[in-house]
Amino acid sequence: MSTAQRNQDALESLRNIGLFSSVKDEDLTSVASLLIERRFPKHKTIVEEGLPGDYMYIICEGRVSVSKLSDDGREKILEFLEAGDFFGEMSLLDNAPRSASVRALVETRVMALSRTDFLAVLRRSPDLAMAVIQELTRRLRQVDEQASSLSFQRVQERTRGLLQRLAKEESAAQTGRRATPPLTHQQIADMIGTSRETVTRALKDLKQQGWLAQEGKRYLVPSEDA
Ligand code: CMP
Repeated sequence: MSTAQRNQDALESLRNIGLFSSVKDEDLTSVASLLIERRFPKHKTIVEEGLPGDYMYIICEGRVSVSKLSDDGREKILEFLEAGDFFGEMSLLDNAPRSASVRALVETRVMALSRTDFLAVLRRSPDLAMAVIQELTRRLRQVDEQASSLSFQRVQERTRGLLQRLAKEESAAQTGRRATPPLTHQQIADMIGTSRETVTRALKDLKQQGWLAQEGKRYLVPSEDA
């Protein structure tokens, strides 16, 4: 394969990543030359809460969790991220330590961009800067939602809201339902800030109501709700 063809292929795969979808070809070509591919095995910590940040990462394949340690030492999962998502941008933007830890849940391939290159690319490409701002705004909205649901909603409603948010894929097993990624009761409990036992009860109730179904460790929610 010629170098030109390889560069074209690299551009095409970057184009498929939401963050880069509206970036001009010439900007994308210069970004492509700055990205460093890295692979992390399952369970490996990619970014550690409290440490200084030097790189941001774009997920090409795999899945990661974003989590924070609470004052009593419990881990609270904030989000799961998958192919096409990015992380590690916050400490590059505000120079503060890493806000959370990011761990590979399965073998994960990422493209890393150094602080200097990320900041230079953002200055050069308003399209990329806008895509980053839009994603940060979406995350802030989500955090706002979670903050209000923590204070006002009962555990069953919080469980339901979380599963609706995580169910992105159409289920192959049951038509009319969307599937979440594989989840343990403990992970759900950590994400909504309650105990595993309370989640187990809430899931049982939601199943008895006919709203929730399960396929292995994936939860199936009605498509029209998701
Ligand atoms: P940074 O603070 O550099 O390192 C941890 C990363 O986790 C952070 O950048 C974000 O990319 C990501 N992160 C932190 N909080 C959230 C959240 N609520 N939702 C999604 N990603 C987050």
